Amino acid sequence: MLDTARIRSDFPILAHKENGQRLVYLDNAATSQKPRKVIDAIVHYYNFHNANVHRGAYALAVEATEAYEAARTAVARFVNAWAREGVVFTRGTTESINLVAASWGRTNVKGGDTVVVTAMDHHSNIVPWQILCQEKGATLRMVEITRDGRIDLADFGRALEAKPKIVAFPYVSNSLGTVNPAAQLSKLAHAAGAVTVVDGAQSSPHLRVDVQALDCDFYALSGHKMLGPMGSGALVAKPALLEAMPPYHGGGEMIERVWDDRSSWNKIPHKFDNDPGQGRRLHSRRPSLYPAADASARCGSDRSCVVLHL
Ligand SMILES: Cc1ncc(COP(=O)(O)O)c(C=O)c1O
Repeated sequence: MLDTARIRSDFPILAHKENGQRLVYLDNAATSQKPRKVIDAIVHYYNFHNANVHRGAYALAVEATEAYEAARTAVARFVNAWAREGVVFTRGTTESINLVAASWGRTNVKGGDTVVVTAMDHHSNIVPWQILCQEKGATLRMVEITRDGRIDLADFGRALEAKPKIVAFPYVSNSLGTVNPAAQLSKLAHAAGAVTVVDGAQSSPHLRVDVQALDCDFYALSGHKMLGPMGSGALVAKPALLEAMPPYHGGGEMIERVWDDRSSWNKIPHKFDNDPGQGRRLHSRRPSLYPAADASARCGSDRSCVVLHL
């Protein structure tokens, strides 16, 4: 049985009262609360290790870089990524999907092509594709859902007849809770010649995710929905796809060499990591994603036990 008193004690915020009542927090699908171990990791990072990552040979910079890269390894293990080079840090699922739309999408989608999404997608997995399709003169095809809240596989099959370039769908629906047959959908989409983009915002906190078993091409997740800090997330991708894609944001860590009139790009995943060089915004959050992802990776299929492992 879940030891709820023990779980509550891991979350400092739950010790507070709201309107004189014990705080009960039910909005985990939007963002989870942060356990002490994650909060401590952020504070510890600033107290003892803060420096610019990948930019210095002095001890602090090496420590900060090691913590940052340890978080990448933890995320790779967490979803059984193809390689740690296939884990790109982002600010969350929305940015991960925008990265794919702007980089893979702009390069590969042309006028007259089709992009497929589903009627149960979160707007973060619809709007980036709308923008891409409007820009390219492509068609966005939305697959229907059945009366019992599942992806309509007959309509999915009909959508694939257009030989779409991209098929995007959620692993778990935020509105319905449906767990979609992601491996099956990916297989069908691949047979039609598409690349697949799985929105993992809701599956990552609740399911044991194995992107290699799903055989998707891109998998997006949000750290802040799985006990990690706000503004943390990842795009997990097949490395060969990332290798072939142009950068998303320019400047900072993604550069290999800069001339007056052009630049060359760093190797993956740094070609896409959007910090710390670009504003040095959030990199303290990456090391603190480590305890969340690392603890989750050690859990069984029921990730509600994650807190007990922190
Ligand atoms: C299924 C799904 N996709 C995407 C998102 C967007 O996530 P984020 O705001 O972390 O980018 C959410 C947020 O609720 C979601 O539930």
